[in-house]
Amino acid sequence: MLQKGELEIKDELCIRCQRCVRICLAEIFYKEGNRILVRNEQSCIACGHCVAICPKDAIVHPAFPPSKVHGFAPSDLPEARQLMTLMKARRSNRAFSKQEIPEESLKMIMEAALAAPTARNSRDLHLVLVRNPQVLQEITRFTVETFYKVVKLLDNAFARTLLGGSLKEAYVLLAKFKEQKRRFDSGEDLILRDAKAVLFIYSSKQSRFGKEDCNLAYQNASLMAEALGVAQFYTGFVMAALARDKKERLNAILGLKDVKIHAGMALAMPALKFEKYVEREDMDYLDLR
Ligand SMILES: Cc1cc2nc3c(=O)[nH]c(=O)nc-3n(C[C@H](O)[C@H](O)[C@H](O)COP(=O)(O)O)c2cc1C
Repeated sequence: MLQKGELEIKDELCIRCQRCVRICLAEIFYKEGNRILVRNEQSCIACGHCVAICPKDAIVHPAFPPSKVHGFAPSDLPEARQLMTLMKARRSNRAFSKQEIPEESLKMIMEAALAAPTARNSRDLHLVLVRNPQVLQEITRFTVETFYKVVKLLDNAFARTLLGGSLKEAYVLLAKFKEQKRRFDSGEDLILRDAKAVLFIYSSKQSRFGKEDCNLAYQNASLMAEALGVAQFYTGFVMAALARDKKERLNAILGLKDVKIHAGMALAMPALKFEKYVEREDMDYLDLR
C-alpha cells in the first residue's frame, strides 16, 4: 500500500494528456486547473498502468523504478496467426525423454507464469519448482496412495451392492487407480511419467481468487513451454489427490505451509515432437447482439 507522497508526478515533464487519469482503476489521478495531481494513494493496487501509459515518464511510482519499465514496439509482438498456431500446437506431451531441461527454459517458463494477471492485482501467486528425484517420487507416491485408500474404502462387497449399478463410472476409475498402484509398486510412474521437474503454482490459503490466478499462470507457462520445445502436462491426478489431502501431506513433502496449491505442471524434454496439429470442434458460439 502506498503512503501519502510516495506517488509523484514530475510537473516539468507532465504534458497534461490525462492518460493516467483515464487509465487508473483506483482514480488516484485528477486534474485541477492546469495540473495533474494525486490523491488517495492508499488505494493504489500497484498495477503499474500509470507508468506504462505515461508518454513522458512523468510518474514516479516506488514499485516501478525506470529499471522496471520497458518500452516495446508492435513489431516485438508475435503476429496473431503465429500466436494462434502456438495455441493450437500446444499439446500435453507425455513422451518424456531423460534429457535435462535447459535452466534458461525453466526460468522463462516461470517468468511467463508470473507475468499472468491476478485478481485485484493481488500478486498472491507463487511457484515451487521440484527437481529432486526423491521428492518427485514422493509426489507420485502421495497421489497413488491417496487414490488407493479410496479404492480400499469402496472396493468391498457391501459398497459394491450399495453403489454398484449407479456408479459404474466410478468403478472404471477405481480400476484405473488399482492399476496405477500396481504399476507404481513395480517401478512405473503413471502420475508424473518420470518428469524431470514439476512446477506447482500456489497462493495463500485465504486468497479469494487463488484458483483462477494460478490456472491463468499455468496457461501462460504451458504456452511458453511449447514455444521453447519443452514437453508438459497438467498434473490433474496430483491435484485431485490434493483435494482429499486433509492432513496436508503434499504441502509437507514440498516444505510449504499455510498455502493452497492450485495447479501443477509436469515438465521434461520431449522424446517425440508433434509436427501437426488437429482441428478441434468447429467454432460455435452464441452471439447475443
Ligand atoms: C484440469 C486438467 C487436468 C489434467 N490432468 C492430467 C493428468 O493428470 N495427467 C495427464 O497426463 N494429463 C492431464 N491433463 C491433460 C489432458 O488430458 C489434455 O489436456 C487433454 O487430453 C487434451 O490434450 P492436449 O492438452 O494435448 O490438447 C489434464 C488437463 C487438464 C486441463
